[in-house]
Amino acid sequence: MTKIDDVFAREILDSRGFPTIESEVRLDDGTLGKGASPAGASVGSHEAIELRDNDPSRRMGLGVLKAVENVNTVIKDSIVGMEAEEQEKIDTAMITVDGTDNKSRIGANSILSVSIAVANAVAKSKSAPLFIYLKDLAKPYGVQAETPKLPTPIFNLINGGKHGYGSLDFQEFQIIPSPQKSYSDALSLGIEVYQSLGRLLKDRKIVHSVGDEGAYAPNIFTNKEAFKTIAEAVSRTSYKIKVDYSYGLDVASNTFFKNDVYSIKDHSEPLTTTGLIEYFEKLNEEYPLGYLEDAISEDDWEGWQELNQKFSGKMTVFGDDLIATNPERLSKAVEIKACGGVLIKPNQIGTLSETFKVIKIAKDANMKVAISHRLGETTDAFIADLAVAVAADYVKFGAPVRGERVVKYNRLLQIESKIQ
Ligand code: PGA
Ligand code: ZN
Repeated sequence: MTKIDDVFAREILDSRGFPTIESEVRLDDGTLGKGASPAGASVGSHEAIELRDNDPSRRMGLGVLKAVENVNTVIKDSIVGMEAEEQEKIDTAMITVDGTDNKSRIGANSILSVSIAVANAVAKSKSAPLFIYLKDLAKPYGVQAETPKLPTPIFNLINGGKHGYGSLDFQEFQIIPSPQKSYSDALSLGIEVYQSLGRLLKDRKIVHSVGDEGAYAPNIFTNKEAFKTIAEAVSRTSYKIKVDYSYGLDVASNTFFKNDVYSIKDHSEPLTTTGLIEYFEKLNEEYPLGYLEDAISEDDWEGWQELNQKFSGKMTVFGDDLIATNPERLSKAVEIKACGGVLIKPNQIGTLSETFKVIKIAKDANMKVAISHRLGETTDAFIADLAVAVAADYVKFGAPVRGERVVKYNRLLQIESKIQ
């Protein structure tokens, strides 16, 4: 058994060039493990709190020096000397020293970076591949993969909402490879369609840029038009709808929900919850959806029930902002049948142990699990190993480009080649 000898944090940059925190944990056998916290752009109101300095004179007020200081003092003092394999005890010590319900005192970003660094250090010290060690860690929670299985990647192709440049309402227009495909075949589909879409946008001279997740942010103005463009891009490849892929959406509907109605450019009049659900039903007839995330705003539980009932057995309705990787919210969703799948974002809850517990609730209820990145990422691939360790159904890493995304897709290729 190895003990934690030292803990140290620093401020680094995420993929947007915004500050985030990286922690290092040194074990008494000299092994060093690192962990970094990602950050969201469309942050749900039920997430654990990310501590930022809010000092306008430095790094746009986004500095995390207070969070760094918390790791270097209170967190360090509370976990040095503990057995590094006792992940839950370590996580609990950090939760206790924080003392709040939403980790607002010390910061979920400080706590998560240390929680991940501890697991990385132990895996390294045992010379075990990370996904194997995480599988061991997942065992006491009953969520470990019995046989390693690669998840289905959800590819983000077009960005709108808070992730785009103002033209589209929905946040992510995605393509979902058939879950029957091997991971490498699914990746082939993702990159071929992504590149085909890029060429089509250039041919059409629809001036475009890419959003922060690497997906295109073209001059397209209605959500339907975005689907039409993706369908045309796929028609230039050999892939067939329903056989090889379905469409997916992260609606992130909180962003256009105001005064109890949803305003989208596809409709001149704002839509009620029922009206929006009808919109998705029609969309699904034209563009078969296999995945629908955050279609209803985060606190409209009845709307979620209505949506889930309508689509049950046809496709999976996923909760991201609705659940916020929170055990109480997920239990409520299970009880009232609000959704059939859940996004798991470790930084929404703040520790690895709590993440396993939330996955357990989902699995016990036969819900689909998608392990997800955030918009602001680092070049760490931890969540790829986590997804394999818990046999997640899906992963969400963004578009299949840019270092911080590609490192995760590539990590799954490495794991696939190890377990075949
Ligand atoms: P976020 O986006 O990181 O901005 O929350 C990802 C998502 O909403 O799934
Ligand atoms: Zn989302």
